Amino acid sequence: VVESGSDSSIANACPRATTDYRVDRPVYETYARLDADREAGPFLRAEFTDHPFWMVTRYDHVLEALQLPDVFGNEVINPMDPHMSVDLLPNKLDPPDHTKLRRVLNRWFAPAAVRRLDPLLTRRCAEMVAELRPAGQCDLVSDFAIRVPTEMFLATLGLPTEDGAQFVVWVEKIFDGFFGRDVEGAAKAGAAMHAYFDAAAEERVRRPRDPETDFLSRMLVAEIDGERISREDLLVICLTLMAAGLDTTRSMLGYIFYHLAQHSEDRQRIVDDPTATPRTIEEMLRLYPLVIMSGRVVRRDIDFHGLPMSAGDVVWLGLGSASRDPRRFERADEFVVDRPNPHHLAFAAGPHICLGIHLARQELVVAVNEWHRQIPDYQLVDPTDAVTERGGGVMSLSSLRLEWAT
Ligand code: HEM
Repeated sequence: VVESGSDSSIANACPRATTDYRVDRPVYETYARLDADREAGPFLRAEFTDHPFWMVTRYDHVLEALQLPDVFGNEVINPMDPHMSVDLLPNKLDPPDHTKLRRVLNRWFAPAAVRRLDPLLTRRCAEMVAELRPAGQCDLVSDFAIRVPTEMFLATLGLPTEDGAQFVVWVEKIFDGFFGRDVEGAAKAGAAMHAYFDAAAEERVRRPRDPETDFLSRMLVAEIDGERISREDLLVICLTLMAAGLDTTRSMLGYIFYHLAQHSEDRQRIVDDPTATPRTIEEMLRLYPLVIMSGRVVRRDIDFHGLPMSAGDVVWLGLGSASRDPRRFERADEFVVDRPNPHHLAFAAGPHICLGIHLARQELVVAVNEWHRQIPDYQLVDPTDAVTERGGGVMSLSSLRLEWAT
C-alpha cells in the first residue's frame, strides 16, 4: 500500500461490476457471478446502488486488506447499504477499541468454552433429528438448521434453551427486515428481543451469577479502560451475536445438506467415517462461502496495488470470490475433500475474523454427524424445486425439502 491521491484515469479504466448482489437468485448462481467478476479483474467499480464502491475480488488482495485495519476501517459493514441503520458491536469498531472489546468477548467463544457446550449440543441435535425422523420428510432450513444455532446461542449466553421456539420467530422476522422485506415486523421483533435481553440483564443485576461461567453476569462487571460496558452496548452486543451467529449457521447447514443430498459419495464418506466430517465441512465453507463480502471504508488516500483510492471510499472485500479463486486453489470450483492447504476466507481474517468460528464449526460438525447417524440416506423431495438463495451479502437458502425412507 502506497500513500497517494486519487488518479481518476486509472479508476475510470476499472471494469464495471454487472451484477446487483442484492437480488435473490436460483441456488449457486451468485457464485457463478462472483467468479465472473473476479475473472473480469482484481478491482471493479460497482455502481448498482446509490453509493458506488470498489470491489476487491482476488484472494491475495482480499486477505491483505482484511489485515490492514488502519487503512480499511469498519465504519461501513455492508457496502451495498453503507448507512445501515442496525448497530453492530464489535463489528463497527476499529482498533484499539475493537481489540479491547474482542478481548472481553473472545473467551466465551474460545475452543474450551465451545467444548463445554458439546454435551448439550450433541443431545439436542440427536433429539431434534429423532423428532423429525418418523415423518420421512422435512424442510431442513426451518425444521432443523435454524433450531440448532438458536438453542446454542441461548445456551452460550446462559439463557433458557426452552425459549428457542419464541426466538426462532423473532429471528426470522428480524432477518426479513434486514433484507428490506417486512420492515415493520422486524422492528417489532427487534423491540421484543431488546426487551427480552434487557430483562435478562436486569435479572442478573438483582441476582448475579458466577461471572466465570455466566456471560451476562460477566459482561455486567467487565471493564474496558476502567469503565463498565453500558447497558445499551451490552444489548447491542447480544443482538449482534444473535444476528451474526444464527442466520449464518442455519445458512451453511442449508448449503451443506443441499450438496450432500445430491452427492451420495460425499454423504457415504460421512456415514462410514464421522471423523471425515470436519474436513468435508471446511471444504464446503470454502466452496459455498455464504458471507460473500466484508465492507470497509478507506481511511486515507492510498494506492492499493495500482488502484488509487481516496479517504472515504467504500470497499467490498470479496470473501466469496477470494475463497473460490483459482490463483489460490486448484480446481477451485470443485469439491475436493482433502485439500492440502484449505485456508479459505469464509470466516474472514485479520482483527474482525469471525468471533464464533469455533462455535460455528462445532455446531456444523455435530449437527451433520447426528443427522447422518439417524438418517444416513435422503434426497431432495423434488429435484426441480426452485431453491433460491437470498441476495444482500449473506446468502441463505429459502428452503430445502428433504425426504427419506422410514
Ligand atoms: C458458518 C457460520 C458463520 C460464518 C460463515 C461466519 C462468517 C463471518 C464473517 C465472514 C465475519 C467477518 C465479517 C467482517 O469482516 O466484516 C464474521 C464476523 C463475526 N461473526 Fe461470524 N460467522 C459464522 C458464525 C458465527 C457464530 C456462530 C457467531 C456467534 C458468536 C458469530 C459471530 C460473529 C461476530 C460477533 C462477528 C464480528 C466480529 C468482529 O467484528 O470482530 N459468527 N463472521
